Amino acid sequence: MSEHVHDTIRAIHWTGERLKLLDQRLLPRDSRWLELEDPGAVAQAIRDMVVRGAPAIGITAAYGVVLAAGRAWARSREGWREQVEMDIARLAAARPTAVNLFWALDHMRACMAGIERDPVPALLAEARRIHEEDIAANRRMGELGAGLIAEPCGVLTHCNTGSLATGGYGTALGVIRSAYAGGRVRHVYADETRPWLQGARLTAWELVQDGIPVDLIADGAAAHLMKQGGVRWVIVGSDRIAANGDVANKIGTYGLAVSARYHGVRFMVVAPTSTVDMGLDDGSAIPIEIRSPEEVLTLAGQRVAAEGAGAWNPAFDVTPAELVDAIVTERGVVLNPNRARLAALMGYG
Ligand code: MRU
Repeated sequence: MSEHVHDTIRAIHWTGERLKLLDQRLLPRDSRWLELEDPGAVAQAIRDMVVRGAPAIGITAAYGVVLAAGRAWARSREGWREQVEMDIARLAAARPTAVNLFWALDHMRACMAGIERDPVPALLAEARRIHEEDIAANRRMGELGAGLIAEPCGVLTHCNTGSLATGGYGTALGVIRSAYAGGRVRHVYADETRPWLQGARLTAWELVQDGIPVDLIADGAAAHLMKQGGVRWVIVGSDRIAANGDVANKIGTYGLAVSARYHGVRFMVVAPTSTVDMGLDDGSAIPIEIRSPEEVLTLAGQRVAAEGAGAWNPAFDVTPAELVDAIVTERGVVLNPNRARLAALMGYG
């Protein structure tokens, strides 16, 4: 349990031997935990959205590498590295858009490089460090992002960017937690976020658990809400930020940014630097996950679409940097992001 107010949820636990994940597919109806000891099962849990959200995926994969190393070392003192590399490849193939997955796996691989004995203690320490540093980054971003909100107002968020999507506290939802605690957010609106309903099922659950009042809106109500003056800021997370400041996030984010600019509503993206991919020139190079049509054609397991209809289901979109007012990271805030400002933040050039 955290000592901070409005912050009680943690969805990823290391038990000492196994990885425990709160099964996000069942929320808010059931709070059921899965215990995993096989790296293949960890990759499957990421693919199937037991755990989702860019930083949470990275942290989960890091613990997956610990499980892989434990198994491989027990089987062979000579061949363990090759086996772990195969498991890392499986974890990396689980989801394509969130760069935090590849970032975390790169860190685990780098940690493996110098190990000559039982790799588990060093890899576990690295996974724990990634986990704890993510929470610390979120707290810092919470303060920095809340500082951008000049006076008490309504805010709109999209998808789930909270404790469930991270090691804890959250990115955009971390800013909302901090700003609410500081009296700068009066009211939170959350898009329900079709087709997975991360807003309705997860964000609303988190905020209710932590005593922050929230109103859900249908995704299509966002522009109308902005026109009515209900919100001064849209605050979202990101799965990957390209070197020029273009931002990939949950499908629907781009439309919110276009609408926000039209209505004079400010647009804040909150993401740790592990989400920044300086290797990609701009957002057009970000791989966008296309998920199953079934997710759109059905709701809670029931077919809702007319028989015979197909569906196109991109899970993410890219918002151009020019529509973003601020990118908030743990290293600082980039206002009106562009290539030069992002390079300065990341210590490039
Ligand atoms: O498909 P999901 O639920 O993994 O998508 C999550 C998002 O798009 C979040 O907004 C993003 O990962 C940032 S969360 C800290």
